[in-house]
Amino acid sequence: MPHSRRSFLQLSTAASAALAFRILTEPMLAQARRGKVVPEGAVLLDSNENPLGPCAAAREAVVAITPQSGRYLDRLTEDFAKLFAQQLGVTDEYLGVFAGSSEPLHYTVSAFASPQASYVTADPGYEAGVHSAGNAGACVVRVPLTKAYAHDVKAMLAAAPDAGVFYVCTPNNPTGTLTSHSDIEYLMENKPKGAIVLVDEAYIHFCDAPSCIDLVKAGKDVIVLRTFSKIYGMAGLRCGAAIGRPDLVQKIQNYGGGNPMPVTAVAAATASLREANLVAERKRINTQVREETFAWLDRHGYSYIPSESNCFMVDTRRPAREVITAMAQQKVIIGRVWPAMPTCTRITVGTREEMQQFQAAFENVMKGKVTVGALRPDPRRIDGFALPS
Ligand SMILES: Cc1ncc(COP(=O)(O)O)c(C=O)c1O
Repeated sequence: MPHSRRSFLQLSTAASAALAFRILTEPMLAQARRGKVVPEGAVLLDSNENPLGPCAAAREAVVAITPQSGRYLDRLTEDFAKLFAQQLGVTDEYLGVFAGSSEPLHYTVSAFASPQASYVTADPGYEAGVHSAGNAGACVVRVPLTKAYAHDVKAMLAAAPDAGVFYVCTPNNPTGTLTSHSDIEYLMENKPKGAIVLVDEAYIHFCDAPSCIDLVKAGKDVIVLRTFSKIYGMAGLRCGAAIGRPDLVQKIQNYGGGNPMPVTAVAAATASLREANLVAERKRINTQVREETFAWLDRHGYSYIPSESNCFMVDTRRPAREVITAMAQQKVIIGRVWPAMPTCTRITVGTREEMQQFQAAFENVMKGKVTVGALRPDPRRIDGFALPS
């Protein structure tokens, strides 16, 4: 199996017990790299957040619901689930609503990965499920992306005949690259019986690729994750969903569902869904700023992986950690680094102004105007800003 690399998360018994129910999230991953202190006024391009935040209607909905938020208001979540399900073309028993998509990601892995059922993921890929799989005592199988940076579904199948979960993130985090619908179908048709395909569509709205909701409708062993943290700009409000056959949604709910939703999040998500042009408009803005940034990188001879999402990988031509450190010194926070691509780092697409700040800082660093050497006495600490190794 030339393409597979197997590893078990090595946690001490005490640590694994303590972490068994901890859900790993994007901000935790970012914070682990950048430390808790972010310089005042820094440009934050390290967590794939949406700099636009919630749309105006969502903000108004939050304000309007707040006086009633002394109540649980279950009905609000039920109505939201009905609306969302209707827009996706399914009925509401196909939809589990959660405070973000990190929860259902963790619950799905908990439900379907085990010491007998491996967790199979792309490398580089989004790491949260790896952590959950480690908690479940499952073997983690990392399979390199293809040369076109798609999930290598044939290699994923070959690498884990005992798979319990195939995690496919499309567009992928961190590369922003797509895996075709036909490849996901191939994975579905050839996976071991009892395994689940977990399709993470956190970034689907930024690209033109078709969703895998049709596979849900066809009754396949698939769970699709959606979040309001990305295009809808609600990362701090927390709303997401798992879409799958009712028996699958029920199964993952048993691993931690049932907590009432924050009513502010539900009100904001409902208002966002009702804004007919919101997704198209935000996609247009993101695409424009991303392509302007790519044009700038091209003009200056820098390499990057062409992305269809709100993040991309740029080649730093040296250990990327050094560049992250030097960029942070200029108050532009980027990152992180994936071991499979040590000389690349991930950049979130910010506003046009933020990307201009990125460009100025990146040019300084790449041209040696900000010398990483000057930081060498302690490259992990700059002006009180800690970057753990
Ligand atoms: C691919 C992917 N899936 C899931 C998540 C979880 O996001 P949230 O819990 O905010 O929905 C993230 C966060 O960045 C992500 O990048």
